Amino acid sequence: MFRRKSLDDILHNPPADADGHGGHGGGLERHLTVRDLTALGIAAVIGAGIFSTIGNASHDGGPAVSLLFVFTAIACAFSALCYAQFAATIPVSGSAYTYAYASFGELAAWIIGWALIMEYAVGNIVVAISWSDYFTGLLQGVGINLPVWLTMGMQSAHKHYNEVLELMQSGRPLAEASAAQLEGYRAWSAAPELPGGLRLVLDLPAGLITLAITALVYVGIKESKNASNLLVALKLVVVAVVILVGAFYVQPENWSPFAPNGIGGVLKGVSAVFFAYIGFDAISTTAEECKNPQRDLPRAMIYALIICTILYVIITLVLTGMVNYKELAVGDPLAYVFNKVGVKWLGGVVAVSAVLAMASVLLVFQIGQPRIWMTMSRDGLLPPVFSRVHPKFHTPSFSTIVTGFFVGVPAMLLNMDLVIDLTSIGTLFAFALVCGGILIIDPHGQSDARFKVPYINGQFLVPLVLLVGAALLFVYNQAGIQEFQQALSSGYEEARHYIPMLVFFVFCLGLAWLSFRKKLSLLPVLGLLTNLYLMTQLGINNWLLFFGWLIIGLALYFNYGFKHSKLGLKVLPNGQRRA
Ligand code: ALA
Repeated sequence: MFRRKSLDDILHNPPADADGHGGHGGGLERHLTVRDLTALGIAAVIGAGIFSTIGNASHDGGPAVSLLFVFTAIACAFSALCYAQFAATIPVSGSAYTYAYASFGELAAWIIGWALIMEYAVGNIVVAISWSDYFTGLLQGVGINLPVWLTMGMQSAHKHYNEVLELMQSGRPLAEASAAQLEGYRAWSAAPELPGGLRLVLDLPAGLITLAITALVYVGIKESKNASNLLVALKLVVVAVVILVGAFYVQPENWSPFAPNGIGGVLKGVSAVFFAYIGFDAISTTAEECKNPQRDLPRAMIYALIICTILYVIITLVLTGMVNYKELAVGDPLAYVFNKVGVKWLGGVVAVSAVLAMASVLLVFQIGQPRIWMTMSRDGLLPPVFSRVHPKFHTPSFSTIVTGFFVGVPAMLLNMDLVIDLTSIGTLFAFALVCGGILIIDPHGQSDARFKVPYINGQFLVPLVLLVGAALLFVYNQAGIQEFQQALSSGYEEARHYIPMLVFFVFCLGLAWLSFRKKLSLLPVLGLLTNLYLMTQLGINNWLLFFGWLIIGLALYFNYGFKHSKLGLKVLPNGQRRA
């Protein structure tokens, strides 16, 4: 379980694919340059987060959500540096999974691989649903109305139908129902009946876009790269226009009060804001298709993160400056603000670009997921068919199709809220482990990798940063502290929400002590702490779901991976037996 892959094995025994072809890349082709990779990074990052979920976050937190974007960017930057060092050390497609295999060992690697499904596949379910919302809006704009039961998930429709039914049975007026509830009610009522009392309510556009993107990913990395470059160029132009035009409509009085609902209100947006950043790491899954992965991957991740952070902070300020934050609880905030201030043409342009932006996120995540499965399968932790590479298209064929099903089917049925938090918790977990991994393989920044996290001695700085953080929390979050005291005195039901936070405090003490004793490298420690802190803000129910997901993963590992692991069976990645 704790067997670790040596870096030597990973680097000097290149993988063989399922058909027995050896050599670096195991049948994949190297086409990607630093420019393509940066574009892929931006393609993966700017999407549903900024075009959709930022609306509710701004509504809850007000203009101060822009600071949450800065804080989250810092957490991501620490993680990006650690990812970059790993990518420069281990240029293999498995991303955080491979990095964990080399640093923590097989069990942790499996857990990371399993958690990454949440980032890529589950994340893509959110993006596909959001894509469909914008797309059906656009169709309506040009007079095409799909039957409403073909435009939403069965889960949402069923829930809304029951809510409206309850409202009617209690004799209250229908006007009390929200637009979404009424739409769900109409969809469920109009849909064809299925056995078992169910109705055929499907988000068809979400399924079709997943199918189209899966087909593109299947036919080749070069085709995918060209599509991504084009989509990114369009997306950046539109984002720039939004910022430039929007700036003229900013009314600075909308920025005051800056944090109307205090730190608590701002932190409600953690999941949505973090979701907006997810993706810069996805490019590390293309390591075997890069021309010079050790040089280009670290650079591209950092470039993509810097560009996206600058754009996000400016967009948030423009958005919350254009209208009062209270108006922003909508699914299409960027289009909404322009329609609101009367620039309807730009509202339309934003809607079109949102569709393109989200398609590019889908594309990169659909590229990433199969490559992680391919790497896990090469290691024997998944059946061999997952590492099959298509002889003509040179892509992981079976894994690509499975990813398509795994994303497309739930995207047609599920409700978006359910999956968005899961995506964030899974990704934060992976980021935390990558930072922890650097502390294990290179605690003092002495590696000779072509890129490494700059070493700053954390001996005194880690305890100091934690003390300052605790003091700031104490001074500026009195309301939160009072809520905490109330929860403690109201019994377990309320208090249990604080369990992740309490465990985190204990962890901080442990890490401060360890940093002091071992002079740990400051930046990975801060990465670990910021990611874990963001995780504590995601609510106990998400933690429980996440644990449930991990337990399923562990059951699979002990039933399959543990017994078939090539490391355990002493088989090298290229098929030869270990000495
Ligand atoms: N960061 C990606 C998005 O916002 C997942 O769509």
